[in-house]
Amino acid sequence: MSLFEAAKFVRKNAHAPYSNFHVGAALRTASGAIFSGCNVENAAYPEGTCAEAGAIAAMAAAGERVIVEILVVADADQPVTPCGGCRQKISEFADKDAVVIIASPKGEQFRTTLGELLPGSFGLGHLGKS
Ligand code: THU
Repeated sequence: MSLFEAAKFVRKNAHAPYSNFHVGAALRTASGAIFSGCNVENAAYPEGTCAEAGAIAAMAAAGERVIVEILVVADADQPVTPCGGCRQKISEFADKDAVVIIASPKGEQFRTTLGELLPGSFGLGHLGKS
């Protein structure tokens, strides 16, 4: 299954009764495994989680730690890039060259990198732990 297929598939399970904005994300790790997630909203709005966060949680739960590529699919007039918080979450497990793909449900794709989306990011190095 491709990253696009995995993200599109999991997007069907998005729980988005408040925004009605359904998002799917799928990432590939250094081992080649694919993990996916959808947004899960909550009546207490700030408790909702993004699709990227779900995919990252699934990856970490499986014991994997290195994101090589991540694809996000949503339906909007303009490409849906990961929110600021998700860029930071991705950066915990990816280097600046990691590929970020923004896709529409029809298959149009826009490729960028984490470094382009989150320049000057805060990371392990700032804590003296790199
Ligand atoms: N959302 C994501 O899941 N990922 C993104 O990259 C952008 C936004 C979700 C959060 C919320 O459930 C809905 O989209 C509207 O913001």
